[in-house]
Amino acid sequence: MRIDIMTLFPDTVGAVLHESIIGRAAKKGIVEINCHQIRDYTLNKQKQVDDYPYGGGYGCVMMAQPLKSCLEHIMLTVQGLRSRVIYMSPQGQPYTQETAKRLKRDYDHLVLVCGHYEGVDERFIEQCVDEEISLGDFVLTGGEIAAMAVADSVCRLVPGVLADEECYTGESHWDGLLEYPQYTRPEIWEGRRVPEVLIKGDHSRVARWRRKMQLKRTREKRPDMFARLELKDKEDRKLMEEIEKEASRRQLTEPLSYGKASLEDIPRIMEIVDYARQTLREHGVDQWQGDYPSEKQLRQDAEGGELYVVRHGFEIAAFFFLTDKPEPSYEDITDGKWTPDVPYCVLHRSAVAREYRGSAVAEYMLRCVEDITRQLGGRAVRVDTHKKNKSMQNLLRNNGFRYRGNVLANEYGHDPARQAFEKILKK
Ligand SMILES: C[S@@+](CC[C@H](N)C(=O)[O-])C[C@H]1O[C@@H](n2cnc3c(N)ncnc32)[C@H](O)[C@@H]1O
Repeated sequence: MRIDIMTLFPDTVGAVLHESIIGRAAKKGIVEINCHQIRDYTLNKQKQVDDYPYGGGYGCVMMAQPLKSCLEHIMLTVQGLRSRVIYMSPQGQPYTQETAKRLKRDYDHLVLVCGHYEGVDERFIEQCVDEEISLGDFVLTGGEIAAMAVADSVCRLVPGVLADEECYTGESHWDGLLEYPQYTRPEIWEGRRVPEVLIKGDHSRVARWRRKMQLKRTREKRPDMFARLELKDKEDRKLMEEIEKEASRRQLTEPLSYGKASLEDIPRIMEIVDYARQTLREHGVDQWQGDYPSEKQLRQDAEGGELYVVRHGFEIAAFFFLTDKPEPSYEDITDGKWTPDVPYCVLHRSAVAREYRGSAVAEYMLRCVEDITRQLGGRAVRVDTHKKNKSMQNLLRNNGFRYRGNVLANEYGHDPARQAFEKILKK
């Protein structure tokens, strides 16, 4: 791709475009960018490029002759290239990624004409210009910034300028979507964590999360773009259903906190248990269907200092039991094994209140579990769940827990088969 820029400020434009990625590509000969001083083509001694407008009015207009002479000089040096002369103008078609793709696809040579002052003599546009492009519906002092934007965005589509085609096909606007959020080191910055899914190295889960974020943020940030999307892909439609569902969940308006449960909290905790029991029944999960966990048991847990609550503001949003005492039933794990020789805590009896299901409370609860485990000197968290309790299994997997095998629970009279999960904690 060759680009010639006609401007009154060739040094400024050249300095910018010969920097960084595009500059390196130009040095390697992958693209060629030339900047031409329009003033060098005047026929008057003063090198005057502009004059007063006919009919009167404010400012000056660039004369057609220096522009035409500059363009002719450029064209004499071009042979056999598909050329396009473009005037950068607030009256042109608004520039988009689609325009960049078209220019890269259909031409090998672009001439970008930068106006200044009140613009250029209309007769030059009529006679010499193929197309007018605008950077947006606003007025710049000159066409240089717009020309640099066009040159940069077209050149980065030329093979070899970026490391890989994926560098630009995954970016915002390529296929009508915005890009997913990006993160780099450190993993925690000012208390904000990088999403867990990006750290685990599971490429298919990362790809799914990224696609979901693309759809989600396009809908949120650019509803106009989103309205133009045609979601033909089955997986995209599934992701959209998830996004809609998440959007209808309760918004967390108060800070979340956690602490040990007191006996005063038991009535609210029992409310949460009743709801969890009902939901499990509705999903055909034979877990918590007897009187486990009983009020008596939860009172004992609280008195033993091993029952915790998560609060949204002052309201209890979830509860859990966490202990550093080994769980005897975990010793007989089948179809797999635990990580050997790690001190661990066991998570039992946990549930999120009805109105907080699907909010970030469950994820927050697991982070609290990890914090407390560390405080107790543990390096791993172990937990079991019914084989049909898919939502718990998904929550665990999405938060870095791994399936380790099968164990039998002590829930007498009900299906005791449980899947065992473990998360090894970072120090
Ligand atoms: C002050 S402007 C002239 C505006 C012109 N009088 C009008 O109202 O249409 C000077 C030059 O800046 C450039 N320019 C201004 N706004 C632009 C935009 N949105 N996109 C591309 N170029 C622009 C054009 O090259 C233009 O000739």
